[in-house]
Amino acid sequence: MTVTLSRQAPVDGSITIQQLTDDPYTVYKRLRAEAPVMRVSSIGRTMLTKAEDTKYVKDTPELFSSDDPNTPMERAFRAHTLMRKDGAEHAAERGAMAPSFTARNIKQCWEPIYTKIAEEFVAALPRGETVDLFPTLAGPFAARCLTHLLGIPEASDADMQRWSQILIDGAGNFGWSPELFAQCDKANDEMDAMFAAAIPRLRAAPDQSAFSVMVNAEDPIPQSQIFSNIKIAIGGGINEPRDALLTIIYGLLINPDQFDACKADALWTQAFEEGVRWVAPIQASSRLVTEDTQIRGYDIPKGDIVMTVQASANHDEDVYENGHLFDIFRPKQPHQAFGNGPHFCQGTHVARRMLANIMLPMLFDRFPNMTLPDPSAVDFYGFGFRGPRHLPVTLN
Ligand code: HEM
Repeated sequence: MTVTLSRQAPVDGSITIQQLTDDPYTVYKRLRAEAPVMRVSSIGRTMLTKAEDTKYVKDTPELFSSDDPNTPMERAFRAHTLMRKDGAEHAAERGAMAPSFTARNIKQCWEPIYTKIAEEFVAALPRGETVDLFPTLAGPFAARCLTHLLGIPEASDADMQRWSQILIDGAGNFGWSPELFAQCDKANDEMDAMFAAAIPRLRAAPDQSAFSVMVNAEDPIPQSQIFSNIKIAIGGGINEPRDALLTIIYGLLINPDQFDACKADALWTQAFEEGVRWVAPIQASSRLVTEDTQIRGYDIPKGDIVMTVQASANHDEDVYENGHLFDIFRPKQPHQAFGNGPHFCQGTHVARRMLANIMLPMLFDRFPNMTLPDPSAVDFYGFGFRGPRHLPVTLN
């Protein structure tokens, strides 16, 4: 980053969390044009909305630490997860789960299991009827797949989704509501009890799941960290594939020409990448500034928290033409939906495989004439995480 004139970034006192939850892209478009480095009072963070800046911050962990001391995440998880660690400590914890995510395991272990799960869910969908794909397909499919990847197939789809939402709500509990943390405590107790009961089974019969590879490692990380990192995967491995799937289906159904091309030429990977670019399931991430520095000539003091808005980066006019449109034919450009740098999403390839290679082709092979009877019934919602709250489609 070029260091230029020293000046304070502007402050905005008008942007509300509600606005960012309901219609964030309108706000980000304005910020990109007028003030790409903006201290937003309602969220108490310096927002970065240009692709170059969000990538730079995530790629520069020496200056921008993941250890945000003010995050409610630690309280919600009752521990610091790998997402809030840096350097060697982060690498050790991320490395502990890594054997489960290898290309070989994705192909040999997870693909066959995920295919079977997808077949069960797709076969259960009633032909000719209008159903909401959020509760009938996207949510439980993501949850069931994750139980296998993590090594807790005894967990129910309903519990997985409930825990996931509670952890997410707790991690975003910036108002420090005691009720929300009480729910987190209850969920943590339930998960801890289940994890403790699973350990003897995983020791007796090791498999390729994330839990098993961590428990059976030669030099395992502490059990408290194994538990909290399984929890971060529960908190971060359901919403995103769920919301990505719903977003992609919606994008295709409102763009019949693209839908037809996908079916004709199996362009499911293109649809997947465009869907997560268009509406990033994780919209923003925070980093703590470790030394006085500058971005775009603005002073960014040590101790400040910068928020990298990857949702905005993915619509940046410097990179994309008409970024607000879903367009699977747009020129290929790297997007930031999976983050950048050392915390780059560990589940990227699993998510790509489960949606682009398994679910999308299977779903549209069975229901090639799916329609969206009322596009206005689909509302996208969320600031930190974002996706459609409902997707009622007619299955044909
Ligand atoms: C479309 C689906 C997904 C999207 C868009 C997504 C997005 C992201 C993003 C943006 C981050 C980085 C956050 C940051 O920089 O602070 C992240 C981290 C992570 N994701 Fe995903 N994710 C997806 C699916 C999954 C799945 C299925 C798993 C499976 C367990 C997973 C596991 C993780 C983990 C463990 C991290 C933390 C990595 C670290 O801190 O080193 N993700 N994800």
